[in-house]
Amino acid sequence: MSKSRYTAINLEREAHKLDAHWSPKVVGRVNDQYVKVAKLKGDFVWHKHDAEDEMFLVLSGSLKIEHEDHVVELQQGDVHIVPRGVLHKPVCKSECLVALIEPMTTEHTGGVVTPKTKSISDQLGEAGDPAE
Ligand code: NI
Repeated sequence: MSKSRYTAINLEREAHKLDAHWSPKVVGRVNDQYVKVAKLKGDFVWHKHDAEDEMFLVLSGSLKIEHEDHVVELQQGDVHIVPRGVLHKPVCKSECLVALIEPMTTEHTGGVVTPKTKSISDQLGEAGDPAE
């Protein structure tokens, strides 16, 4: 069993530690959902998740989630949940730290494979699944 079950996880601190932009890291697991942190800057790719809703929580900075017909602007502490099947593109001019909650099966670029795509094992890193 992972020691992370018995310690506090500071999401902002974990996100700060990341080197690369758009490369989510799994920091916890709640049932069948992963809790991830990511460091974002610039434009991501348009994508959707056919079977999964996706939750963004802004830890620092600000983030825009572009939808086809509107833009959701998020500040520190704000949450936005992108419904399943909805096309979206995260954008932030300045660096932004976020936490994501999504099912273990979610591919972060949806069905689209891009140079930015990171596999679940990339996102888990050497520590592996936090609940195992
Ligand atoms: Ni997404």
